[in-house]
Amino acid sequence: MGCCICSGFWACLDKLKAGGRSAAAGADDAEDGIESFDLFFDLNALQIATSFFSDLNKLGHGGFGPVYKGLMPNGQEIAVKKLSVDSRQGAREFTNEVKLLLRVQHKNLVMLLGCCVEGPEKMLVYEYLPNKSLDYILFNKQKSGSLDWTTRFRVIMGVARGLLYLHEEAPERIIHRDIKASNILLDEKLNPKISDFGLARLFPGEDTHLNTFRISGTHGYMAPEYAMHGYLSVKTDVFSYGVLVLEIVSGRKNHDGQLEREKADLLSYTWMLHQRGKVLDLVDPTLARCNPDEAAMCIQIGLLCCQASVAERPDMNSIHLMFSSDSFTLPRPGKPGLQGRGGRWTTTSTSAFTNNTNASSGYTGATKASGGSSFVEEYSRNSMSHSSMDEGR
Ligand SMILES: Nc1ncnc2c1ncn2[C@@H]1O[C@H](COP(=O)(O)OP(=O)(O)O)[C@@H](O)[C@H]1O
Ligand SMILES: [Mg+2]
Repeated sequence: MGCCICSGFWACLDKLKAGGRSAAAGADDAEDGIESFDLFFDLNALQIATSFFSDLNKLGHGGFGPVYKGLMPNGQEIAVKKLSVDSRQGAREFTNEVKLLLRVQHKNLVMLLGCCVEGPEKMLVYEYLPNKSLDYILFNKQKSGSLDWTTRFRVIMGVARGLLYLHEEAPERIIHRDIKASNILLDEKLNPKISDFGLARLFPGEDTHLNTFRISGTHGYMAPEYAMHGYLSVKTDVFSYGVLVLEIVSGRKNHDGQLEREKADLLSYTWMLHQRGKVLDLVDPTLARCNPDEAAMCIQIGLLCCQASVAERPDMNSIHLMFSSDSFTLPRPGKPGLQGRGGRWTTTSTSAFTNNTNASSGYTGATKASGGSSFVEEYSRNSMSHSSMDEGR
């Protein structure tokens, strides 16, 4: 594969193998406060831990490749994500990004333990979470009962907390770009942890990724301005979060072709119920009990997050405040962005979007994703820029 091999990196790896892991911790690593032995896993150790990446240990398969469960000699369970993307990025850049991601730590984020860059494939090693991802439970009528209302509300608030950290508190701002039910993992107590938060950084804007929905987002969760024009900002995540909130309340996917026409698209259906003053009809019928005030608040926040206009979507700070303050009066949502759903295209025009972003005082964190080239430039926190990412679709 076409990855540019940096001789310094391999020399460092050789030192690691020859002299033990800690011996190779260089000055850079010491400055970072991250020792190399914390970062690198031997391929051999991962092969043994996963029974040579046996199908029996496969946890799932995503756009970047398969994920395997592994057991380390010290008894620690891990999840190994084999990145089978043909990355043109050099090994040094890759490990630099992993070092950054290792510093990104929050109780609502899956912990990245390190990486492995031996052999043709790069791998990421995560803590293993026993309850898999939210989609497994939420969209399975036999299992979804175990997600009672209190748990769902905790998941909704936990994901908001994790996103707030990524957007505002992490060492560098991270726009996740692929918030969805299968990227929310659940720990033994069903607490939510956002996963795959670094993939957009690790594989920024390469052509190969533009053609997959995996890195650029997943259909049904993507903000209209991003899906159509490639405009990427923290509000892209806010939109996906809104869809996820509505899925958690309703216990159904954002699109379900099996349902009757007016219900098939979750956002359109929620908007219709909102207009009729019957939002609580959305609540998952498998729930034995539910707090109607909390459910109505979640639905309203979900709709606000999915506003077509970027400026009308709250940022994660406001969302966190809405959840944690009793006295917060929620704004009334307008019609959500329904782009690309069931053939209906209600779009934010480019000019409206530009006006909104320029005028929006709370707007932060824009990124230019450059189609056709292999980088994403992070601009200053208050700037906004355009991307030609939609060329890849
Ligand atoms: N750290 C982990 N612990 C437990 N299961 C995991 C972990 N990471 C991923 N998985 C499982 O593997 C599946 C595939 O993961 P991924 O490659 O991220 O694809 P996707 O998120 O699109 O499903 C996930 O849906 C999840 O069920
Ligand atoms: Mg995932």
